[in-house]
Amino acid sequence: MPDVFDTLINSYISHNTGIDPFFLSEELANGLRLHIITLQHVGLLTAAGIGNKENKGIHEEIRNDRIYWLDKSNHNSFEQEFLQLADEFIACLNQSCYTGINACEFHFAVYNNNSFYKRHLDQFRNNGHRKFSLITYLNQDWTEADGGQLHIYQDNHTEKILPHSRTAVFFKSDELEHEVMVTHRQRLSVTGWLKRV
Ligand code: OGA
Ligand code: MN
Repeated sequence: MPDVFDTLINSYISHNTGIDPFFLSEELANGLRLHIITLQHVGLLTAAGIGNKENKGIHEEIRNDRIYWLDKSNHNSFEQEFLQLADEFIACLNQSCYTGINACEFHFAVYNNNSFYKRHLDQFRNNGHRKFSLITYLNQDWTEADGGQLHIYQDNHTEKILPHSRTAVFFKSDELEHEVMVTHRQRLSVTGWLKRV
C-alpha cells in the first residue's frame, strides 16, 4: 500500500473512522479552495437536497449547505487532480480491504455562517450503492470557536473533528451516524462516496 494512504486506511481499520490530517497536498487544498470560491461568485452552487432521484427534496431544517458536483468533463485541473487522487485511494482500498468499489461521486460543499447538517446516515433507504464516505476539508486556521465540527456517533463515544484544511475523514456510509454542527464562519469541503454499483 503506498504510504500516502496508510494513515487513512489504518485508522479506519482500528477505529471505524479513518482520519488523515495531511491527505491533500497544500497545493491541491489551496487550488480547490480558490476554485469553490470562484464557483460561488459566479452563482454555480445549488441548494443541497436529501434523498436521491426518487425521493429528492430540499429540507433546510435538516441541511442548508450549497453544493457543486465534481466532474472530469468540467476540465478544471484541481477537480481532475482530486478525482485522480480518489481513484488511487480506491485502488489501494480495494487491494488492501477487498472492498470491490467500482464507482464514486463527489461534490463541493459550502456551509455559510449558521449552516449545519443534522444527524444522518449517508446511505439512502432505497439504494445501497454508497459504501464509504470520504470527506476532505479546505479551511485554514479553523478554531473550536468557528463551530462546524463533524460529530461522528460511535457506540460508546462521539468523535469530534475540526474541518482543518487538508484533513480527510473516511467511514462506512451505512453504519455511522454523523452531524455537522452549526458553523460560525464559512466552511468548505469536498464530500463524496465510494460505491459498488
Ligand atoms: C454529508 C456530510 C460532513 C462534513 O455531506 O453527508 O455528512 O463534515 N458531511 O461535511
Ligand atoms: Mn453525511
